[in-house]
Amino acid sequence: MTALVPFNFDIGSAASPSIKMPGVKTAEKRTALIEVQDVSKVFGDRSAEALTMLDAGEDRAAILARTGTAVGLNHVSFDVAEGEILVVMGLSGSGKSTMLRCLNRLIEPSSGTIRVRGADVTAMAPAALRDFRRHSFGMVFQHFALFPHRTILGNVEFGLEVQGMAKPARRDSAMRAIELVGLKGWDARYPSELSGGMKQRAGLARALAADAAVLLMDEAFSALDPLIRRDMQQELVELQRRLQKTIVFVSHDLDEAIALGGRIVLMKDGAIVQVGTAEAILAHPATPYVARFVEHIDVASVLKVGALLAAVPIVLRSQEDPAEAANRMEAAGCGNTLVVDAAGRLLGRTDIAALRRVPNGQGLERAVRSCARVAATASVKQALPVVAAEAEAVAVVDEDGRLLGTIDRVGIINALARRSANPEAAS
Ligand SMILES: Nc1ncnc2c1ncn2[C@@H]1O[C@H](COP(=O)(O)OP(=O)(O)OP(=O)(O)O)[C@@H](O)[C@H]1O
Ligand SMILES: [Mg+2]
Repeated sequence: MTALVPFNFDIGSAASPSIKMPGVKTAEKRTALIEVQDVSKVFGDRSAEALTMLDAGEDRAAILARTGTAVGLNHVSFDVAEGEILVVMGLSGSGKSTMLRCLNRLIEPSSGTIRVRGADVTAMAPAALRDFRRHSFGMVFQHFALFPHRTILGNVEFGLEVQGMAKPARRDSAMRAIELVGLKGWDARYPSELSGGMKQRAGLARALAADAAVLLMDEAFSALDPLIRRDMQQELVELQRRLQKTIVFVSHDLDEAIALGGRIVLMKDGAIVQVGTAEAILAHPATPYVARFVEHIDVASVLKVGALLAAVPIVLRSQEDPAEAANRMEAAGCGNTLVVDAAGRLLGRTDIAALRRVPNGQGLERAVRSCARVAATASVKQALPVVAAEAEAVAVVDEDGRLLGTIDRVGIINALARRSANPEAAS
């Protein structure tokens, strides 16, 4: 089934800038750390019968009615790339927690394969599995699950203690993790002395202390007050950037998924309905259900500046001759424009009069003044104040400061208007 496209802001589509800067990085393909292939899970005694019905395309209700078996997962396949935050989303009962717990076999999949760095987790014997689980996965739960009679340090180092790590080494690891989550100075306190947000920081520290490759987080911030929750989301993104952890984060909150960035796995009735970035899902909802799911999304916070780039008609290079540059601009009817260095990095803005004032024999840089800029990865919401304060189109740069194009008010308003003019994506 193909849905109508409600609006289109794919990065790299027709909206791409016509200027091509040398050496601009394209998104590199990351290797899959976790590969989930055709995993199903049924809960109940008549699982073989339930699986046969599932394979025959029977729905959950029919399977439950006939066999008394609940379908948790229905032929689920997806990859988790090394170093990404993947958010598993869906309504209550859609199978998110089941999915997360199947990854480290806290829940045993009924069929299918799960590989982590190529190792088949589904085939591991119990002892090997326990060891693998400890070293590969850290878990963070909604209700913290801290031991009340242990201090924060005691809680954070618990996993390392179980692993048999010597006391000085585990103290070091635990204290480092406590510091990472901003709880320095609280290590000797007990959980009852901490606020909800701080308890969840402790839970996060405990998961980080073992230095596992993957963090599994199940509704980890859902019990927190909205403001604390937003802080934690930002801090998690920051932490992930620094530590390059792979994170699988379960949430039923679309705003949270957007705040965490990265890709979203959207589930319904135990099956995956769509996998993609928030932008991609919003631009091309796979089914009417997905379209309804994302209907009330705050588009400005999803829409990235990089998707709304306009081309710059003339870009000057700092090594050009100022008089010739002024002539070129005049011929093109362009009063002022942007200047880049030899590597394409934005230096600032100039205009014809300033170029004409440069004394003979002097470089074009003399005529350049600083100008506003926004990152291509910023959301429209973040860029709006900058764009609103500028008379001219605002320069958009990549992470190395190279000019990619510009963004202006008209471009933003058009993109937002396209969305509100056609909110019904269902076909
Ligand atoms: N141990 C179990 N025994 C029987 N059925 C189960 C069990 N665990 C989960 N289920 C069923 O599997 C389905 C998926 O449950 P799951 O807990 O994965 O949902 P969820 O998306 O995490 O929901 P929530 O947002 O409420 O946490 C539900 O229908 C649930 O009733
Ligand atoms: Mg759950």
